[in-house]
Amino acid sequence: MLFRVKLLGLIPPEIIEDVRIQTDIVGLVSEYVRLEKRGKNYTGNCPFHQERDPSFSVSPEKQIFYCFGCQTGGNAIKFLMLAESLTFVESVRRLADRAGIYIPDVESGADNKRAAREEKAWKANAQARDFYHDYLLNSPEASGAREYLKGRGLSEEIIKSFKIGYAPASWDSLAVYMRGLGYSPGELIDYGLLTGDSSRSFDRFRKRIVFPVTNPQGRVVAFGGRVFGPAENQPKYLNTPETQFFNKSRILFGLEQARKAIKEAGYAVIMEGYMDVVTAHQFDVRNALASMGTSLTADQGKLLLRYSRDVYIAYDADSAGIKAASRGLDILQQIGCRLKVISMPKGTDPDEFLREKGLDGWHRAVAGARSLLEYKLDVALSSKKDVSDIIEEVLPNLAEMKSSIEFEDGVKTVASRLSLSWEAVWGEIRRYKEHMPKIWAKPDKITKNTHNILKSGKPKDALSRAELGILKILVENPEKLSNIRSVLGDDFLQEPLCCEIYRVVSGHMDSGEYNPARLLDQLEEPAAGFLSRLLMEKNEGIQDPDRVVNDYINVIKKNRQARKRMILMQELATAEKNNDIDQVNMILKQLQEV
Ligand code: GTP
Ligand code: MN
Repeated sequence: MLFRVKLLGLIPPEIIEDVRIQTDIVGLVSEYVRLEKRGKNYTGNCPFHQERDPSFSVSPEKQIFYCFGCQTGGNAIKFLMLAESLTFVESVRRLADRAGIYIPDVESGADNKRAAREEKAWKANAQARDFYHDYLLNSPEASGAREYLKGRGLSEEIIKSFKIGYAPASWDSLAVYMRGLGYSPGELIDYGLLTGDSSRSFDRFRKRIVFPVTNPQGRVVAFGGRVFGPAENQPKYLNTPETQFFNKSRILFGLEQARKAIKEAGYAVIMEGYMDVVTAHQFDVRNALASMGTSLTADQGKLLLRYSRDVYIAYDADSAGIKAASRGLDILQQIGCRLKVISMPKGTDPDEFLREKGLDGWHRAVAGARSLLEYKLDVALSSKKDVSDIIEEVLPNLAEMKSSIEFEDGVKTVASRLSLSWEAVWGEIRRYKEHMPKIWAKPDKITKNTHNILKSGKPKDALSRAELGILKILVENPEKLSNIRSVLGDDFLQEPLCCEIYRVVSGHMDSGEYNPARLLDQLEEPAAGFLSRLLMEKNEGIQDPDRVVNDYINVIKKNRQARKRMILMQELATAEKNNDIDQVNMILKQLQEV
């Protein structure tokens, strides 16, 4: 049998049920995909494969999603698993977190051990943060650092709200403190707080101002430490290295503090540095955040998309800034962010800009922000002569525009700025797209459909059509089960995938607990995707489902008879060859009945 009951494991079923009830799939999916209402369902561009015309549907009524393009489907838990590359348990935990549902700790299991270790790492980091923060606020050694931050214009209030700290100059202040709390040097090295090895380790951050970095849930996952005072041959910033608990490319500095404001403002502002973000928040620009000195990643973009599609870039125009970041910006656009670039005078970063021009100046700069496309056109126009070179620069951005309005706008802009006809721009885009690498498809994450019935899409003969049709009506109308069963029994389907679905669905209906979204948790692929499709495909045009069911039943019955007749004919031939008269008569009688 293809069907296996999945081990849901470790999380009590009633909690999974709670999570399901508390999570609205439309709300969840909207954090990744722009959905539009079409009749009962919502549709949008599939986040799991590249497409221009929306073939991705979400049903609020059934709480499932399905993509008719890549045949991926399932419930809210499955969606988050695919969107964030999570395991089942991780996905349930996330959704529980979101819905404010508490999951009691259960013993053992790899997932749980990992979660417990992560929990401990977070706690250690939070304790280290408090140590550094206390040190900055209170120790005599930090008086210089306090003066410095004051000189940079930071208020005590903002220092406290970001819990900025100071790491003392000694080699082992933090190590001694943390060992006192019961952590081993090995653990502290794992967390990135100490460097060295088990025989000799010392504080990673020394004589630095430290910025705690949190994940969106507010857990401390890392630190950024800025040199302070004379620093011979030292990097200006030192960050926590990537550890098993910290993945830079999934974290944005300031997101925890900014998330609410991003939703309210309707856009996020990405800046370059820690100081920029802290100053911005002090100036009441609370939707500001930064990547940690690296170029932006798709994971960071997806994180942002949960809060807003509109993302403004405020990089120092002069620093290699935007040019270096350009690939990151393209990636953000590819996953569906709408990007604008805020222009600032050469050589100023948002920190300086806000201090010079104040909040009013900032708002003016935001209002004057150009789209990424316009920005790139401007840059290319000022540095390149050849029209084809210029258009080359912006083709990736044009080709990736997600909505037709945006796309049309983009074509218009490029055409007018370069004095080209629309058709010429269109032609270039078409040419580009033919050669465009498909960065989007993640074949390993997407259901691999091996099944004919899924592959072919449309059943080829009347029998397959009837089997599929009857199943489709059944999954939506449990009350039809008894009628179907009384005529056909339970063993009437040929296609293995259909048999599997029928068996599971009818079993659930028998137990009186039929709930498609819940059932999906227990199905492996390709059954889960197939059931999602059956549930999502519209049974439209069906006025009288009972009559349709009867038609299908008749097709199946006829097919059964035909098969039986064929078998009898074969037996008849054998019996005649053997001159077994009794047998021949018996078979003839049976044939007449059929
Ligand atoms: P100030 O110079 O105090 O205004 O800090 P800043 O945050 O504005 O720094 P800057 O604009 O020089 O750099 C922007 C960001 O790049 C920083 O916040 C860091 O995340 C990162 N960065 C800068 N210098 C270094 C470095 O030497 N090493 C590492 N790993 N990252 C750095
Ligand atoms: Mn700066």
